[in-house]
Amino acid sequence: MSTSPDPGAPAPARRRRARWWWLGGTLVLLLTGAAFVAAELEHRAWVEAVAEYEAEVARVTEEAETSRARAEEAYADGLATLTGAIDQARPVYRASEDQVADPAVRDPLDDALAEGRRLRDAEVAYPVETRTVEAVTRPNPFFAEELPAVTVEVVDAAQPDPAALESAATDLVTTADTVATARREWAVAELRPATDEGRYALTGLRAQDADLGLGTLDDAVTEAEAVLDAGVDAVDPDEAVALRDTLLETSASLWRTRLDQITAERRAAARADGVDCRVDQCVALTFDDGPVAETERLLRILERKDAPATFFMVGDNVAKNPQIARAVADGGHLVANHSWSHPQLTTLGDAAVREELRSTSEAIADATGTTPFLLRPPYGDVDGRVRTLATRTGLDVMTWNLDTLDWQTRDAKETRRAVRQQVEPGSNVLMHDIHATTVDAVGKIIKDLRDEDYVLVTADLLVEDED
Ligand code: NI
Repeated sequence: MSTSPDPGAPAPARRRRARWWWLGGTLVLLLTGAAFVAAELEHRAWVEAVAEYEAEVARVTEEAETSRARAEEAYADGLATLTGAIDQARPVYRASEDQVADPAVRDPLDDALAEGRRLRDAEVAYPVETRTVEAVTRPNPFFAEELPAVTVEVVDAAQPDPAALESAATDLVTTADTVATARREWAVAELRPATDEGRYALTGLRAQDADLGLGTLDDAVTEAEAVLDAGVDAVDPDEAVALRDTLLETSASLWRTRLDQITAERRAAARADGVDCRVDQCVALTFDDGPVAETERLLRILERKDAPATFFMVGDNVAKNPQIARAVADGGHLVANHSWSHPQLTTLGDAAVREELRSTSEAIADATGTTPFLLRPPYGDVDGRVRTLATRTGLDVMTWNLDTLDWQTRDAKETRRAVRQQVEPGSNVLMHDIHATTVDAVGKIIKDLRDEDYVLVTADLLVEDED
């Protein structure tokens, strides 16, 4: 359609034009309004994006600034916990040496200490991680704007990890606790037999009515009994060990004194009877492994010859033949301990050795009324440990220095010849009253010795120490 202004146009045409103008104006107004609204929305979105961007930048910057301090603090806390646990566990481990025997108990603590030290001594590192806030571009061609990408470095961990330090510390506490408990159990297991030895010494020494100061031992026994009554959980292992040592040392030293007294008293009594092995040519005949039926025949020979002898008795035989043991003692002979069952004592544990010796001494005391003070270990098998155990059982160890080998030859002539050929002042002659051939030889042996001016004595009177 083509129109042009025409002032002379009729009124309907003017009105039409006016309507078009109105419509056009309205349209322009609408479009302008829409543009304003769109611009406003775009602006708001941008403001929001800027705010988000700035918040994110602020967040990562703050994280970057504080993360190292946080990581350092966490590491320092972990390290302090671990160092404390190591300091607590190390003395537990050291103290348990030679005490906690089970490697399954002690090795885990050793491992935990090694791991703890490794972590404690490891150089600490703070690895960094890069955090990026992405760039933001305003998608408006009329207002081109860009917020740049921001990159910061954040420490998000320490190496070693504080959690690993804490976990190693927990391992140390747990394993050290197990070892400490095992050590308390060990201490009680040590103290119990020592208390028993102390009690045994007290009873034995009191029964002998000897003039000995028993106060220290009495106090130690009372204290040890209280510790044992209090139970494993209450035990201080160091105190228990000290108490054990006091009990054992005091028992040994009191018995030592008592044994020396006995020897001195018996030698003085012998000198009063005119026998002094410092001057006389003394010989001791000793008979092991009885008493048996053959022992009675031997006693008759000795009685006829008025010859003293020493009998190292096997406890089991004493229990079987108490009246023979009694006859030996009544004959004026010295009765001594040769263990209960004739084992090699060095191969037995402490408790078994004590049992061998005590039961025999008791059987002898029951049968004869006299407690023996000499021990001849079977086979002469003895070491420092058995010697100490013997002392604490009130027994002096005595072996021999003239072996007739009567048990091997089983020949009266050979036995007699062995003595005649080897005898010298101080001879401690080993024979066995369980062999008839030996008993057959004894009368002639005594005659031979007396012909040579030897004086027969019990073995304890020989001056030379035969051990
Ligand atoms: Ni024997």
